[in-house]
Amino acid sequence: MFKKVASTDSLWIGERMGVVIDGFPVLLVHMDDGVHAFQDQCPHAGALLSEGYFDGVTITCARHLWQFEAKTGKGVNPMCVQLGRYAVKVDESGDIWVDIPGKYVMQGGEKDETL
Ligand code: FES
Repeated sequence: MFKKVASTDSLWIGERMGVVIDGFPVLLVHMDDGVHAFQDQCPHAGALLSEGYFDGVTITCARHLWQFEAKTGKGVNPMCVQLGRYAVKVDESGDIWVDIPGKYVMQGGEKDETL
């Protein structure tokens, strides 16, 4: 079920924001191709990626500097990881909606959360 979580008035292209949906941390990234939503939890040791670094292309975890492509969540360093992604819609008024389906599995399968 999609939930309204932010607006493009407060998340411009080239910016990122951490939000919490039903107690679950989600990283929003507004790129030139649209808004993307990922798990806001580094697959290495769980740090909030919204508190890391963002250069407009790459998200870098502040804790141990793992890096991810901001458009896809694919690992840059290391390349073998992938951030969990969520469906995003932006309506005609600029509101951002994210669908949290209920479960995700951390890279490597070591964690399974139910929302
Ligand atoms: S917790 Fe993110 S790189 Fe270690």
